[in-house]
Amino acid sequence: MSGIGAAPGAPVMCIVGARPNFMKMAPILRALAAHDPPIPALLVHTGQHYDASMSDRLFADLRLPSPDLNLEVGSGSHAVQTAEVMKRIEPAIDEHRPCCVLVVGDVNSTLACTLVAVKKGVPVVHVEAGLRSGDRRMPEEINRVLTDQVADRLYTTERSALDNLLREGIAESRVCFAGNVMIDSLLQSRPHAKAPAETLAAHGADPALVQGAAGYGVVTLHRPSNVDDAQTLQRLLGVLRELSERLPLVFALHPRTRSNIERFGLQALVAGARIALLPPQGYLEMLGLMGGATLVLTDSGGLQEETTALGVPCLTLRENTERPITVDEGTNTLVGRDAQAIRDGVAAILAGQGKRGRTPQYWDGHAAERIAADLYRWLAAGAA
Ligand code: UD1
Repeated sequence: MSGIGAAPGAPVMCIVGARPNFMKMAPILRALAAHDPPIPALLVHTGQHYDASMSDRLFADLRLPSPDLNLEVGSGSHAVQTAEVMKRIEPAIDEHRPCCVLVVGDVNSTLACTLVAVKKGVPVVHVEAGLRSGDRRMPEEINRVLTDQVADRLYTTERSALDNLLREGIAESRVCFAGNVMIDSLLQSRPHAKAPAETLAAHGADPALVQGAAGYGVVTLHRPSNVDDAQTLQRLLGVLRELSERLPLVFALHPRTRSNIERFGLQALVAGARIALLPPQGYLEMLGLMGGATLVLTDSGGLQEETTALGVPCLTLRENTERPITVDEGTNTLVGRDAQAIRDGVAAILAGQGKRGRTPQYWDGHAAERIAADLYRWLAAGAA
């Protein structure tokens, strides 16, 4: 195996930084180790997410090994966070001379490590390539476009991703349709999902909220476009409060959302209502909560895919999605941030008109194996 300047037997340097990276990397590491012959890997955590609830907990739930290296970059503006990752990954690449750097998803750590590796002549492999929302105001969209432009091997999760890449001038020979590694994690972990009532009880919330005949909804919100503006957040929380009178809600709060609710003085909107406010949940808790839910309201990319795999109706509080297959084939409906559209979406699901959907191609639990097999061939052929 060779990368430019790679050490003999050099590892694949696998990068994780933020919460949604962990569920993607866990099956990849297992597939690299299980490949015949095994493909050596080195796990680097940039430290973009550092709270126990956003990081350590998920490592345990996903049976991820401890990182070989933690760059401990922490929070900051996009510029500071990206720059810190770049400064700290460079000496690690120099020291370990990996055969390639493997990045997943679209967070700041993904782009930062890509830029450093590619300029050092180290091949870059991008898992979950080609997704596009078409909305360049999303920081993740910038990270996706730039990472894909310079990555050497691109693995896609759905067929529309190839069209996006071709439109941007990326050669088809660099792209491999491997399927969705996040669904590998979901299928591996589903038997171990935690019961929703136990999850509520563990946080001092009333388990009866998730045990009623009417069912319950699960909510997550963390996109800056939804939670950083006081008026928008107030409107969304107002709709949630209103909905909770019909359907109890379990709201797992991202740190950004929790701090903004406090900063804008909006606590009263979610206090005392039939809304269980929980801290960020572990992976097995979220799987259990989503699996038993009547519906999910979210702005997360991952939850749009997970609800499709679970067959649970999902209303996405965004105007666009980079994961169109969840709408075309899955259980997802885009409702934006308009209060009436959200109410109508919920009413349709409660009336039994929620999408059932079907499982997209290659969301079958074997995506990471396909990546490992292809990666081995590609590296053996000189990563060209
Ligand atoms: C990041 C990703 C986003 C992903 C999300 C999942 C980027 C551009 N965004 O957004 O794509 O959907 O992760 O969670 O990379 N904080 C903590 N503890 C932590 C981490 C963050 O309290 O462990 C707080 C800090 O106040 C920080 C804020 O959350 O400033 C935002 O964290 P950051 O990593 O900048 O972005 P996310 O909003 O988490």
